[in-house]
Amino acid sequence: MSAEGLSLSDQHSSHVEIEGVALRFGDRPVFSDLHCSFPRGKITVIMGPSGTGKSTLLRMIGGLQKPDQGCVRVAGQEIVGLSELELGRMRKQLGMLFQNGALLDSMSIFENVALPLREHGRQGEDEIRLHVRAGLEAVGLPDVDDLLPGELSGGMLRRAALARAIVSEPAVVLCDEPFSGLDPPNVSRIESLLRDLNRNLGLTLIVTSHHMASSLRMADQVLLLQEGHSISGSPQELAESRDSAIVDFMGEDGAEYLSHHVSVKEGH
Ligand SMILES: Nc1ncnc2c1ncn2[C@@H]1O[C@H](COP(=O)(O)OP(=O)(O)OP(=O)(O)O)[C@@H](O)[C@H]1O
Ligand SMILES: [Mg+2]
Repeated sequence: MSAEGLSLSDQHSSHVEIEGVALRFGDRPVFSDLHCSFPRGKITVIMGPSGTGKSTLLRMIGGLQKPDQGCVRVAGQEIVGLSELELGRMRKQLGMLFQNGALLDSMSIFENVALPLREHGRQGEDEIRLHVRAGLEAVGLPDVDDLLPGELSGGMLRRAALARAIVSEPAVVLCDEPFSGLDPPNVSRIESLLRDLNRNLGLTLIVTSHHMASSLRMADQVLLLQEGHSISGSPQELAESRDSAIVDFMGEDGAEYLSHHVSVKEGH
């Protein structure tokens, strides 16, 4: 892609790109030559067996884990090799929801959600208050400002963590296992919140998930990680695939998605 082409085609192309990434922890290789990309304004769900590097991939995009080799580009900017200061600037365009929520136990929900705004240090107290309130309302938690994380249910905690991930109005939101440990009503709730954020704000969402049904429903693109390489496609393309590795991974959910999806499309 030419430098001149960036501003025009960037709007329709990848928001995040991974090229030729290799990473090992000690003698354990996680990625050997990973290539994948995440389209702007779309929802990509990263799936794959436990230990294949889904969280590690999100951490690389967030600049929290450097690859041994290769490029990681966010909005056209190469982030491997940036200083901590430069990474801090880059992270202003990212929101992150970590695996297991990770709210700080001793801080009120209000203060937890306000953290990214205080870290970025651009806003006064009144503005912070407005943004935190808006974030908590967007996730359906208007009355929990003064509570501690320990006083919320699992589903509420996950929504509070999501409010924290979006409070600074990032362009890209990274969500590591947003559905894990939630009961079906809370899975649906988080799923529709993520979809609404994507639709209403045009966010690029990169989500890891083991939850096949909701992943297939919400994804524009599914990225399947398997032993260091990736396969990507629309949910329908993956569900229709005859590739035995994909068929094995998707199991009955793939067939079920396909029959439902096709019958909905055909108006049955
Ligand atoms: N900081 C680290 N130090 C050493 N090894 C690590 C580190 N982070 C991850 N790993 C290893 O890298 C591999 C990928 O881990 P990762 O957490 O990314 O997997 P995952 O696909 O997210 O798994 P899960 O589905 O269980 O969340 C694992 O073998 C893990 O043990
Ligand atoms: Mg993980």
